[in-house]
Order: sequence, then C-alpha cells, then structure tokens
Amino acid sequence: MDKKLIFSGIQPTGTFTLGNYIGAVRNWDKLQEEYNCIYCVVDMHAITVKQENEKFRFTRLNSYALLMACGIDIEKSILFIQSHVKTHAELNWLLCCNTQFGELSRMTQFKDKSQRHPDDVNAGLFTYPSLMAADILAYNADLVPVGIDQKQHLELARNIAQRFNQRYGDFFTLPEPYINEVGAKVMSLQEPTKKMSKSDENPNACILILDDKDTIIRKFKRAVTDSEAEVCYREGKDGINNLMTIYSVVTGKDLASVEREFAGKGYGDFKLAVGEAVADHLEPVRTEFARLSADKAFLKQCYTDGAEKALRYSQRVVSKAFHKVGFVDRT
Ligand code: TYM
Repeated sequence: MDKKLIFSGIQPTGTFTLGNYIGAVRNWDKLQEEYNCIYCVVDMHAITVKQENEKFRFTRLNSYALLMACGIDIEKSILFIQSHVKTHAELNWLLCCNTQFGELSRMTQFKDKSQRHPDDVNAGLFTYPSLMAADILAYNADLVPVGIDQKQHLELARNIAQRFNQRYGDFFTLPEPYINEVGAKVMSLQEPTKKMSKSDENPNACILILDDKDTIIRKFKRAVTDSEAEVCYREGKDGINNLMTIYSVVTGKDLASVEREFAGKGYGDFKLAVGEAVADHLEPVRTEFARLSADKAFLKQCYTDGAEKALRYSQRVVSKAFHKVGFVDRT
C-alpha cells in the first residue's frame, strides 16, 4: 500500500519557539520514516503581518536551515519555501472562491491578530486560512501535524475541500489533523494561561530554540508557578503543568515519573532541572544550525531542489483542480 502523505508548514517570523518545536516540528523528523513528508517555510503567510524586508529575507533562510537542523532530511522529505512554488497562490484563488465570508470571520486567529494590529487588518490576514488550505490540498495531503492552535484552520480546510468536491465532483482528499497528546499547546512561561508565542512582548515568556543554555535556564528560573510547593499535574496549576509537560517531552519521562522524581523538592530545583533538560535537548539543534547556516551555497541548492520537486508534485493536482472548475487547459 502507498504511504500516506504528510504536509505541514511553519512561518519564518524569527527563530522558532519551544512551542513550535514541541507542538509540531519535533514530530516532523520521526514522521519521515513512516510517511511521505512535505514540509514548507510558509513565507507568504508571514507577510499578512508587516515584515521588515531585509530581516525577512534573512529569517526565511534561517528557518529553512533550522528545519534541517531539527532533523528534516532532504533525501527523505521535500522541504521548500512556499513563495518558490507558484501553485499555492494559484490554488488559493480557486479556494477563496469556495470559502465563505462568514467562515473566515469566525477564525479566532484572525480576530486575535486584527485586535493586535488594528492599523493593518488587510485582506491577506482575512483570507489566510484559504491559503493554508491551498498549501495542504495542492498535495492532496492525508495528515497535517500541527499544534492545537491550528485545528480550527484545519477544520476549515476540510470544509473547503468538501464544498469543492460537492460542487465539482470528488477530488480533494480531506486532510486529518495530527496533534500530539502531550505538548499540543505549550504555554507562556510568564502567563501560563496564554499560548507561548514569539510575538509576546515579554522576552522571558518564550524560549527560542536558538537561545543559549544560560538564557534558557534564566528564563525557566523566572517562570511563573504558584504558591504551593508541590510538583504535580493538577487542574489550576497551569505554570507547573506547563513545565511538567515540557520536561516530560524533552526527557521522554511520563508525568507520573516526573512527579516522583521531584517529590519533596522545591520549585527552584524543578525549574533548574527543566531549564537544563531543555538546553541539553536543543544543543544538537543549535550546533547543526550553526554548521548549516554557514553554508549558503548548499542551502540554496537544497531549497531550489525542494521547490522543483514540490512544483512538479503540486502542478499535477492544481492543473486538475482548474480543469474541474471549467478552465480551458493551456496544453
Ligand atoms: P505557526 O508558524 O504559527 O506555527 C508552526 C507550528 O507550531 C505550532 N505551535 C505551537 N504548538 C504548541 N504550542 C505552542 N505554543 C505553539 N505555537 C505554535 C503551530 O500549531 C504550528 O503547527 N498557519 C500555520 C502555518 C501553516 C500551515 C500550513 C501549517 C501554513 N500553511 C499548512 C500546516 C499546514 C502557522 O501559522 O503556524
């Protein structure tokens, strides 16, 4: 039987956070063994929020290198930059014409972002989920590994695919979310009821995966917890629950053994242990990133090859979708 197809993407807005890593990217390399995987630096999504152009050029390339450093192997998977593959924008138009204003208005990320950037509520920000659907449907992907915050967008992608199939005949595969049981939503270290996000104004709220060891430990030492002194996973202990989840993911220990390990110890010891475990876990990523990002020619060859493969693959699907809608074939 053919292997199932995985598609996922990440925005190149600065360095990835520990949330991106734990919620999504850490799975991406493991999935390569079992599935056909296509991964993408979604730079067209990133400009729905204003970017400084020179910095943006640099972060796109860095994000590409960082995905390789996290274990994406270009011999096993297709890894490319979204704007290099024109089929995403083309299919986006077909899908926009099959997406309702009301559906887009209900997207919580649109509501959040338009509140945060009231001076730039642009049409791209509004239609963003349709482009995300195009990313996935252009490859007829079966599974999409993401954090829980993308679940709503993914449900919309399924609805758009379903509507298209009803109008034009069965064509698109309905993609399923692939969401971790543990770590699907890593929380801010400063306000543990909020998602960890690189747009947080407080730098102590968020671990960047290229932070050095001292910085990582310092941020964990400052993490907000509670007034008890018990390392246990329980409702209402948002800060501790978050730290336990992070520790559990990076060490591979389950929550019960984490509780046992820290029974009778204070929060100071626990936070230090989490900081050290995270820093050690990310050390190989930082080292590999430094090596890869120094070799711009190699990176260029990788993303050029990746784009060619992605274009070849998606063009077949997208041309058929245009044909289904009734466009006259060019060739
Ligand atoms: P983005 O770039 O915001 O995030 C990339 C991935 O990281 C996950 N993530 C988190 N997971 C757990 N805890 C957190 N605090 C956390 N923060 C982020 C996200 O869920 C995501 O999986 N729209 C997408 C990018 C995208 C995409 C796609 C994804 C565009 N096209 C097609 C899948 C398929 C986004 O903005 O992710």
